Amino acid sequence: MNKLILSMPLVFLFSFTLHAEPIKRSLENMNGCYACHSVKLKVIGPSFIEISNRYKNQESARMQLVKKIKEGGSGNWGSVPMNAHPKISDTDLSLMVDWILSL
Ligand code: HEC
Repeated sequence: MNKLILSMPLVFLFSFTLHAEPIKRSLENMNGCYACHSVKLKVIGPSFIEISNRYKNQESARMQLVKKIKEGGSGNWGSVPMNAHPKISDTDLSLMVDWILSL
């Protein structure tokens, strides 16, 4: 019994690390995004809060946004295009989109 109780925090810590790692990696990947975006202010692209306000209640928007960041493009906020990000994995991109839509 004692052994079981002692091992619980370890299991918890382990599963936490498993989940935290991809999130940490994808947020680090976002460094490049801040060249054109900020959380609150429009820079070259719209602020992440504006993006969240527009899309957070649309379930289908998530996949579209992942595709848009990956392929780049313009038209939804103006004529300035976002560059393509072909090297970021879909998993990382969907974590970023989840984070943006949680704002
Ligand atoms: C070179 C500047 C630039 C960089 C770097 C950039 N963006 Fe953008 N982003 C834009 C612009 C400009 C728009 C508006 C595009 C439009 O009008 O459709 C935009 C739009 C978006 C949108 C909304 C798309 C839509 O169709 O409404 C999301 C989400 C987004 N960016 C996320 C990101 C993320 C995440 C990164 C980093 C991986 C990133 N952007 C990097 C310029 C950039």
